[in-house]
Amino acid sequence: MPELQVGAVKIHTAAGENMLDALLAAGQKIPWSCRAGHCQTCIVQALSGQPPPQAEVGLSSDQRQAGWLLACQCPVQQDMQLKLHDPAVDGIAARIVELHPVTDQILVLCLKPERPMRFQPGQHVVLWLDSELARPYSIASQPGDPLLTFHLRLHQNGAFSDRIQRLAAGHIVYLGAAGGHMHYDPDWQDKPLLLLAAGTGLAPLQAIARHALESGHQAPIELRHWHDEPVCYLQQPLQELAASHPQLTLRLQPRTELAADLTQLRLASRSTLALVCGPPTFVEQLRKPLYMAGLPGRQIIDEAFLSRRA
Ligand SMILES: Cc1cc2nc3c(=O)[nH]c(=O)nc-3n(C[C@H](O)[C@H](O)[C@H](O)COP(=O)(O)OP(=O)(O)OC[C@H]3O[C@@H](n4cnc5c(N)ncnc54)[C@H](O)[C@@H]3O)c2cc1C
Ligand code: FES
Repeated sequence: MPELQVGAVKIHTAAGENMLDALLAAGQKIPWSCRAGHCQTCIVQALSGQPPPQAEVGLSSDQRQAGWLLACQCPVQQDMQLKLHDPAVDGIAARIVELHPVTDQILVLCLKPERPMRFQPGQHVVLWLDSELARPYSIASQPGDPLLTFHLRLHQNGAFSDRIQRLAAGHIVYLGAAGGHMHYDPDWQDKPLLLLAAGTGLAPLQAIARHALESGHQAPIELRHWHDEPVCYLQQPLQELAASHPQLTLRLQPRTELAADLTQLRLASRSTLALVCGPPTFVEQLRKPLYMAGLPGRQIIDEAFLSRRA
């Protein structure tokens, strides 16, 4: 029976048992969110023992070299000594500069990290409120911006949603490393971009649109947002952006129109790239219409905002 050791605590596991399950069953306070290897909330460090490759997918080479692994993707096959992620030591401290609602359900959070962070617009980080409460959120700002910005949808009975609303400017939170495949690729310069978002899925996609425009993207960019509120929460800044960039077109519509819109989905060109982001049900709902419109899977890049129970 392989054994996990966390500090002085020894945990006996069944061979092949999921590491996250084993740690939680033993009472370890390890946060988790997606359980699908996307969010990096369940990251732990192996001080001894070799993590299997599937537990390192999506981690940077620096993280892998330091022994970090995703517990939710790790079958325990051998004895391992582990260290849980301590955000105050392993993360980057960031001061809350602004935290304000833009709708009843969406908060904008602006942070000043204690040191510059490397990221690509559209990627996500894990926001840690303490060593037990952490969730992934997409970065809505650009690397050169003075503050790191996030758009947070508040969920009823959501542990993170409840706690973040009670924080104020000056409070310190912690950031994990930026990761994820949702970002602009300079090789896309001549390809039309179709950016499809629902809810706060707009955060990474508007960041990618801005980055593409700043990078001299040549082909048309269409940004579509289906919103749950009466108007899109970014309507004004997006309209200003489109006014100064004629190649950017916007379609900001109520979510109630989504099903009808999808029956009329047309592509500007066969080389179009579709980037899709939002709640899991939305991302799932887009797959078939995009395929039916003629887009092969390799031209669709999506990110579902998976949560603990969604
Ligand atoms: C890579 C990645 C990037 C993300 N980026 C963002 C972002 O930029 N902005 C943002 O608002 N969210 C984002 N999310 C989703 C966010 O991390 C989750 O919604 C998170 O679980 C919310 O934490 P909570 O503690 O408030 O709610 P939890 O305690 O995790 O869940 C509480 C309740 O809310 C419901 N719920 C939670 N999240 C969702 C959801 N997405 N859809 C439907 N129901 C849900 C759950 O079913 C549950 O009933 C991202 C997720 C991933 C994986
Ligand atoms: S990567 Fe493990 S919980 Fe999300």
